[in-house]
Amino acid sequence: MTDAERRAALEAIAAEVRDCTQCRLHSGRTRAVPGEGDPSTEVVFVGEGPGFNEDKQGRPFVGRAGDMLVKLLGSVGWRREDVFITNVVKCRPPDNRDPEPDEIAACSSYLTRQLEVLDPAVVVTLGRFSMARFMPGAKISQAHGTVRPVDPATGARDALVLAMYHPAAALRTPAIERESFVDAATIPNVLLDARARRADHAHRPDLVATAIEPAIEAPAPPAPPVLEPAAALTDTDQLTLF
Ligand code: URA
Ligand code: SF4
Repeated sequence: MTDAERRAALEAIAAEVRDCTQCRLHSGRTRAVPGEGDPSTEVVFVGEGPGFNEDKQGRPFVGRAGDMLVKLLGSVGWRREDVFITNVVKCRPPDNRDPEPDEIAACSSYLTRQLEVLDPAVVVTLGRFSMARFMPGAKISQAHGTVRPVDPATGARDALVLAMYHPAAALRTPAIERESFVDAATIPNVLLDARARRADHAHRPDLVATAIEPAIEAPAPPAPPVLEPAAALTDTDQLTLF
């Protein structure tokens, strides 16, 4: 897919999300929050669901948790517009309660389709609900900072997933904040590993759809990374993306 085709496909999904009434969360929303970012990025961050500020603005991670996410990204030299940021549910649960299983199920095809379009090398999960989708059965206290191959059934056909704590948990608890920066520091290396796997799979397409391998520990800290900047985008485009 070309960049323009990706952008158009993501915008088409976003338009469906904005009109969606497939679960009860539609009735309490101000705006749905489809997600935003660089359509050509290699890295997708998946949070839980919109909060108060996200619901008002229709954009993901724009409140205090978003400030923390931007700091975590900044610690590896990236900006939020270099990656794609979305959520497991696209509409705000009332009073920021946890999303319920039927709501997650109703919303799940949007995330799957976004991942099919983006074809990321790395998925970073933020918090338990996002982790549950990519590392079923994992416990966040043990799984944060670890990496696994992603099941292609999630939509990400050849990716590694890194589990992280939710940035809101980092805001509440200094120890979790420290661990989040340690985990974030591994992202560049995870990307290098994911690129290497994908290059290998390009010659071994039979490996791409194999069953999930056992969890591996995230590698030691990274040689800093260069994500291709979103050179084709103007500042205006970035503000209005999806
Ligand atoms: N928390 C989330 O999980 N997602 C957002 O978009 C904002 C806060
Ligand atoms: Fe639709 Fe998802 Fe919003 Fe539910 S949360 S109404 S499934 S977009």
